[in-house]
Amino acid sequence: MTTLATTFTGLEFVNPFVLASAPPTESKRKILKAFEAGWGGVVTKTIGLHPVENVAGPKTIYQRVSEEKPYVSRMKRPDTASHSSWNWELISDQPLEQWLPDLREIKATYPDRMLIASIMAGADGEDEMNNWRKLATACVDVGCDALELNLSCPHMDRKDMGANIANDEDVIRSILKAVTSVVDVPIWVKLTPATSTMVEAAGAAYDAGAACVSLCNTFPSLPLMDPETLKFEVEVDGLVTSGGLGGLAILHQSLQRVSDISRAHPDQAISGIGGIKGFREAFNFIVHGAGNLQVCTAAMEEKGSGGVGVKLIQELTQDLSDYMERKGHTSIEDFRGIARSRIVEHAQVRRKSDDYNGGYDMAS
Ligand SMILES: Cc1cc2nc3c(=O)[nH]c(=O)nc-3n(C[C@H](O)[C@H](O)[C@H](O)COP(=O)(O)O)c2cc1C
Repeated sequence: MTTLATTFTGLEFVNPFVLASAPPTESKRKILKAFEAGWGGVVTKTIGLHPVENVAGPKTIYQRVSEEKPYVSRMKRPDTASHSSWNWELISDQPLEQWLPDLREIKATYPDRMLIASIMAGADGEDEMNNWRKLATACVDVGCDALELNLSCPHMDRKDMGANIANDEDVIRSILKAVTSVVDVPIWVKLTPATSTMVEAAGAAYDAGAACVSLCNTFPSLPLMDPETLKFEVEVDGLVTSGGLGGLAILHQSLQRVSDISRAHPDQAISGIGGIKGFREAFNFIVHGAGNLQVCTAAMEEKGSGGVGVKLIQELTQDLSDYMERKGHTSIEDFRGIARSRIVEHAQVRRKSDDYNGGYDMAS
């Protein structure tokens, strides 16, 4: 019998679809609505202990393309399709003390849904390691099923936080050591896609006890400038800074990152994120090895759902279920990772002639 239920990092999910850490999971109200709609789990908006104050302007824009004038812009035009989100939103500005009773209530209301707390502290010294321990212990004590360590926020000024950690293996090990010494739940580690050392970073995370690696966070990027007004599509007092690109525009790059990690660490768990807006994108993450799928931009963009993707989760579960029945699959494990063996080195792909040696002379 077909089932969407999955066991991932030792946790039982009623379906593999999870709302990613972002505005859809920023409050008790939204998370309860998401669970009512059918999401299998949520990763909360990242919770921290350091001061957080967002920019004095819009935190997220939605960029669209049209067939007729296919430029990317947030500008409203007829007949456009979603291209991406761009954001420079910091982590949650709701203090830990306010999160804790909310998390307890959410878990008590939906015991069969997976509640994963995203947490973030710095990396500079023992005080910061204690902040990781404090966040981890507090969230687990109120019933969170797992933790996701945010090592990938792309818009931190602090050099010891988020993507600025730059997938540093020693830092990853230290933070995991701090967290695993105080809690006993699965630890997910969210890495930045913006380094060339992601596979090694994932290896360090798994070695240090991570149950899974989650990726991708948004890609560091800039918003566009309008040629007429010379304004950026989002700015404050004419200024902007590097923010994060999400949504469909990052799908292919996210898949490549997942594939690289999955082929290097085929026995390890990956939660796939980046551009999922329906079954086809989710399917692609699964065939590259992801056993769990996280969604952000597509849920935020859905009109009339309060930004939690009510219709989206119904479609995702229905379309995945229909596909599995049609193909005779009983679980996503039947096709998870099937693309791995078909991703090869460039020179391994057939040429028209036999005398190509990957750019080297034939003799070498
Ligand atoms: C407005 C906004 C806020 C976000 N905040 C967080 C955050 O607090 N913590 C985090 O780990 N990721 C955060 N993300 C990244 C998402 O969780 C996700 O990794 C990314 O958007 C890619 O998924 P998508 O293509 O489905 O949007 C945020 C994304 C957006 C658009």
